[in-house]
Amino acid sequence: MAFTYFFRDMYTLRLIEQHVIPELKSRRYLSVWDAGCATGAEPYSLAIIFRENMGEFLFRNLQIHATDINPSFGAIISRGLYREEEVRRIPRALLDKYFVPAEEPDHYMIAEPLKQAVSFQHHDLTSLQPIREGLCLILCKNVLLHLTREQVVAVLKMFHSVLDEGGFFVTEQTQKMPPESTPWFHRVVGDGQVFQRV
Ligand SMILES: C[S@@+](CC[C@H](N)C(=O)[O-])C[C@H]1O[C@@H](n2cnc3c(N)ncnc32)[C@H](O)[C@@H]1O
Repeated sequence: MAFTYFFRDMYTLRLIEQHVIPELKSRRYLSVWDAGCATGAEPYSLAIIFRENMGEFLFRNLQIHATDINPSFGAIISRGLYREEEVRRIPRALLDKYFVPAEEPDHYMIAEPLKQAVSFQHHDLTSLQPIREGLCLILCKNVLLHLTREQVVAVLKMFHSVLDEGGFFVTEQTQKMPPESTPWFHRVVGDGQVFQRV
């Protein structure tokens, strides 16, 4: 099972809240790609942050395309049932708002509007096949470290090609951006891994 949990990286979620959502939220359609989403904690955490900052009406315009090389994660994501230890980092008010205690002991079920905002697709990043075009945000965290340097450059080039003008790319704090990607992305915040398509 891939290592992940809800609100794993609060620092980066806050950067998305401060620098990404304000620029995107008035767009007619928001198409987001979470590449290497594991069992869904990350795309659902992202959905919560968008919902908190967009309101109910605009949130309907958001679709998060969650992909992973492991096809078995799709069933987990569409069911939306998570163990207590996976959700314990979620601030209490958000847990109460977006989850209901499930019939299974020590489990929580994610709320329906969030489920509708997240869809899963089996996808191998090293295929270099984009899942779609016209994306406004690509989140790819704790995945590129599994690839070779050449694969990372090729994947970043592919991400650049499918982001809309002004679209964002977000990765984890420890991921080094190769020099080849300098013409494709500029860093939005000095102390964070939020980049905007050039
Ligand atoms: C450590 S988990 C990270 C999950 C989530 N992004 C996070 O940061 O919490 C790494 C995920 O990358 C996926 N993965 C590894 N290689 C991949 C590839 N070539 N294409 C797509 N997903 C891949 C794994 O299956 C796993 O779910």
